[in-house]
Amino acid sequence: MKLTVYGGRRLFGEVTVDGAKNAALPLLAATVLTDDEVILENVPDVGDVRTMIALLESVGKRVSALDPGVYSIRTGRELVGIPPDSLVRKLRASFLLLGPLMVRLGYSQLPLPGGCPIGVRPVDLHLKGLRALGAQIESRGGFWCAAAGQLRSAEIHLDYPSVGATEQIMMTAALIPGRTVISNPAQDPEVHDLARLLIKMGAGIMIEPGRLHIEGAKTLSGTVHTVIPDRINAGTFLIAGAIAGGDVTVRRCQPLHLEALLSKLDELGLTVQEHVESVRVISDGPGSFAGGRVEARPYPGFPTDLQPQMMALLSVARGSSVIKETVWESRFAHAAELARMGAQIRLEGATAYLEGVRGLVGTQVCVNDVRAGAALTLAGLVADGATVIIDRDEHIRRGYRDLAGELHRLGAAIIEETLEEKEVVGTEAR
Ligand code: EPZ
Repeated sequence: MKLTVYGGRRLFGEVTVDGAKNAALPLLAATVLTDDEVILENVPDVGDVRTMIALLESVGKRVSALDPGVYSIRTGRELVGIPPDSLVRKLRASFLLLGPLMVRLGYSQLPLPGGCPIGVRPVDLHLKGLRALGAQIESRGGFWCAAAGQLRSAEIHLDYPSVGATEQIMMTAALIPGRTVISNPAQDPEVHDLARLLIKMGAGIMIEPGRLHIEGAKTLSGTVHTVIPDRINAGTFLIAGAIAGGDVTVRRCQPLHLEALLSKLDELGLTVQEHVESVRVISDGPGSFAGGRVEARPYPGFPTDLQPQMMALLSVARGSSVIKETVWESRFAHAAELARMGAQIRLEGATAYLEGVRGLVGTQVCVNDVRAGAALTLAGLVADGATVIIDRDEHIRRGYRDLAGELHRLGAAIIEETLEEKEVVGTEAR
């Protein structure tokens, strides 16, 4: 995919946010815990969700689209515990199937999954949790092979509040009678959305500060569940309004899930108005807001998935800024691309130091992960001339149903095209 953005247009109007990709993925994975029909509503139409649906079908689930964003998932044929490598390697979140398939079938096998190149992305906490629950797991020829030993509830401490590991343990423990306790769990809204689904399916889940209790059941049943709104996409559009200038309202979002971003935008001097299910940002564009300090941390800290977008914003702030990334060890690849657009950024390990510039300059840039793609698109909104964003692996579509179309509807001058073969070669050469 190629986006061409002509900078200098302010944004006005409303955008309605889809369901959260990072909630939909574990919710879909959880459907393997029952043969009954689970109906999921407000499922976003993005690449990663399509891949997860294909994975479910590959292990024996029948997935039917009932309405746009509404899917019925039930068991179509006997489930198998070994999804095809080709699909698993496309999606890091496919690893969430290891525990649920193992606890349902007694075995599962997955290669180490792929995903965004934002760091090593180990799975040690997933494996620690599953082994504590009685799974026997070993790596054989690049695969993780899990077998159900004497499955039992357990007390598991996570050295790091990993979102995926928390979800993996929750889903697996939901089918193991007894009380499993996770200490230091991830507290993200997407984790709590999964808890709500598991409760509807028959598990008992109680969340208290720093601990998550799961009362497992022998069997789990079908239900209906609506995916929460995507706070990262909501935040992306709010930052778009802030950087370009104008007046943008993001509808069907939950301000409570965006507190770290909203207070930061307010601190920079932007006008932010919160309503029950929408947020409005009013901005005079580049240079009209101050620089500041952003530290990406586990929820409820500032979301790492909005760190690249904030780097674009702070590139055109008044004065200097500091961005510290504490979640992923190498999530600054977008800094080099922003610098090619004229941003003044100095990297020292996990910290980026920025000096705001009056404006950026359009050029050709490359996308290497979903949120970096969003950040470069936002930077293009305020760059002189045309910014050509080359997204060879369609990263942006993995997380955004129609980023270009939504920005265009808000007033951006943006064109989306398929990539010509020669252009792809060009980016490889760079
Ligand atoms: C989820 O990834 C999100 N993906 C990511 O969003 C997000 O950046 C991340 O949480 C943090 O918020 C989905 O939900 C599908 P983690 P996940 O396990 O679960 C370390 C996007 O753009 N870690 O919380 O993989 C890990 O190395 C994506 O939508 C271990 O050390 O994140 C990292 O430093 C990008 N051992 C930190 O924890 C483990 O076993 C956060 O990882 C697991 C993780």
